[in-house]
Amino acid sequence: MNKKLPIGIFDSGIGGLTVVKRLNQLLPGEKIVYFGDTARVPYGTKSADIIKQYAMQITNFLIRFDPKIIVIACHSVSSLGTQFLESRFSGRTFIDVIEPSVLDALRFTRNKRIGVIGTPATISSGMYPSIVRKIDSEVQVYQKPCPLLVPLAEEGWFDTDVTRAIISHYIDELLDKQIDTLILGCTHYPLLEKAIRKVVGSSVSLIDASGATGTKVKQILETKGLLNTKHSKKPVPVLYFSDLPEYRGQIMSRFWNRKDLIIKKVRLGEDPDV
Ligand code: DGL
Repeated sequence: MNKKLPIGIFDSGIGGLTVVKRLNQLLPGEKIVYFGDTARVPYGTKSADIIKQYAMQITNFLIRFDPKIIVIACHSVSSLGTQFLESRFSGRTFIDVIEPSVLDALRFTRNKRIGVIGTPATISSGMYPSIVRKIDSEVQVYQKPCPLLVPLAEEGWFDTDVTRAIISHYIDELLDKQIDTLILGCTHYPLLEKAIRKVVGSSVSLIDASGATGTKVKQILETKGLLNTKHSKKPVPVLYFSDLPEYRGQIMSRFWNRKDLIIKKVRLGEDPDV
């Protein structure tokens, strides 16, 4: 396989840019092709069948670029669709955001009590506790779906009184269980990190999937001899979206306020304008 091939990455919408940003910092020589399904977001309140179907359509789009690896930035898809994608696209390498976050959380926890917050789809999949149990059966996992946090992040209400009150409403019961580590199990939650930190205090470790996932992608590319370090000019990430209303552009700048990104619109099922 050619090192110069891009890394494919996708999410239900704009939130996955938290992962693209981290990957781009960590691997500046890599070409990145991103797809955000802004026409059909949110996924976190949809059924497993629909989420899998959407994930398959997106993967079919991304493989036109022959990516050397595909990163599933969305926690809802990672929870419900990773095995499905691996079986449908055998021979392709997928990296989800669940396992890297779990491994990071296990490194941080001292009292073996971990909290997980995420969308209703992610939490009801039970994927986080199941992966934790496989690695360390002594660890207790306490979960909480937090459906109001995605709209707060998209509105830019990162650290307001209302935001902290809602976070408290969700997280207090996890704190009552004496968790010492909290997995931010959704693409949007890193944007609310400041407010979450104020609610949980300084003794709880916060795990942001983008860091751990970026490191895993780097390790896998290194192991496979596919890391592209020779670059005369740093490639600019190419971002495809299934819809681009004006309002989404404003939201996007909250996730990554960078002006030189290449942004394109594509409807799944039609040829991309590349
Ligand atoms: N990207 C989704 C996730 O990480 C959050 C937004 C949505 O519900 O689609 O689960």
